[in-house]
Amino acid sequence: MGKAEDEQPLPSTAFDAQGTALSAGGRNGCCLGCSRLQELVTFRCVFVLVLGVAVLLSAVFWLPFFHFGDHKDLDLDYGGHDIVASFMLRKPASFLEDYVLQLENDIFDEMSFSSTKVEIISLQSSAEPNITKVVFAVESDLTTQSLIKSSFASLITRQSFLHLTTSLFGDPFSFEVLKFRGGITATPEQKAFLMQSVQILFNFTLNFSIDEILNNFDELRSQLKTGLHLAPYENLYIRLTNLKGSTVAPPTTVQSQVVLAVGIPSKSRLKQLAQTITGSHHTKNLGLNNTVFGRVKQVRLSSILQHSLGGDGSGPSPSPSPSPLPQSHNHHHHHHHHPPS
Ligand SMILES: *[C@@H]1O[C@H](CO)[C@@H](O)[C@H](O)[C@H]1NC(C)=O
Ligand SMILES: *[C@@H]1O[C@H](CO)[C@@H](O)[C@H](O)[C@H]1NC(C)=O
Ligand SMILES: *[C@@H]1O[C@H](CO)[C@@H](O)[C@H](O)[C@H]1NC(C)=O
Ligand SMILES: *[C@@H]1O[C@H](CO)[C@@H](O)[C@H](O)[C@H]1NC(C)=O
Repeated sequence: MGKAEDEQPLPSTAFDAQGTALSAGGRNGCCLGCSRLQELVTFRCVFVLVLGVAVLLSAVFWLPFFHFGDHKDLDLDYGGHDIVASFMLRKPASFLEDYVLQLENDIFDEMSFSSTKVEIISLQSSAEPNITKVVFAVESDLTTQSLIKSSFASLITRQSFLHLTTSLFGDPFSFEVLKFRGGITATPEQKAFLMQSVQILFNFTLNFSIDEILNNFDELRSQLKTGLHLAPYENLYIRLTNLKGSTVAPPTTVQSQVVLAVGIPSKSRLKQLAQTITGSHHTKNLGLNNTVFGRVKQVRLSSILQHSLGGDGSGPSPSPSPSPLPQSHNHHHHHHHHPPS
């Protein structure tokens, strides 16, 4: 829209300043005024000329700018689409260009929500021969968006796979979410009993993408367990969120939950955990290797952990605290996918 508005005045203004200067001058007395050397009119004439040249110059530079800038702009906004994802195929782009409709239908069939619309945005040849990155957008209503989000989440963690017409396209690989309005969360398969009455939750951020962290996920989990000095009956359940909805852009919010195989945590254990997490027990960087994971940032405790840190006698408050409550919905939900170990 902004582009159309910018372009709209270009032809007429540029025209006035150049080609039809005479007729334009005739109408408003500009260039005839030049020859009469009337200062005021000359000023107006110069002004109009300068304006015309400026508009012409911007016309000359603006259009290529859009072309070269395209990639960057697309990275940030993806043409205003709410949902954009990509995958790779072992086929040349030139081949795929003939099958765009078929590709769109195949992806649509995988969504299988009638209110959605799939559009291939680009086919990018990669450095390797015969490998093409297929970027597509999905339009859908709000209800369907949450279904698509969970189906994307399981594709990211390879709990499911995209199926296309194999005879034409082969098997897709490297599924990535480039943008999902409202953020995206990946939950790798983990054995943990999530029906906990006390939710020991804390968040921190790492300056890496969800994809990068997934590649080191086992390492992350085991280093955290060691760093927090978890007992054998205490386990970790981790979810990875990117608020912009990208699995390829940093940062990632690591939502962590300490889960107990049995019983409920004592007040002193909660306090100990909270102290370890906040670094007052000589645990640096939550025990994470700086070289691999960088610096841990924005450590946030759930209110139960936060309260356990408070002064004398302020153990975990028995009254339900507002922040962990919405979470418990998710846990019940996830419980279906992750049976107790
Ligand atoms: C690329 O694919 C074409 C056919 O699709 C094949 O003829 C060609 O040998 C392939 N090139 C490479 C480098 O794999
Ligand atoms: C995150 O890492 C990138 C390089 O990978 C760096 O350019 C950027 O400044 C870092 N951001 C923060 C907030 O540390
Ligand atoms: C951290 O990871 C790097 C790279 O894998 C490794 O060389 C280094 O020894 C590790 N540091 C510690 C303290 O384990
Ligand atoms: C952790 O992060 C998630 C996602 O950003 C958020 O919904 C939740 O409230 C956060 N919890 C805490 C304790 O900060």
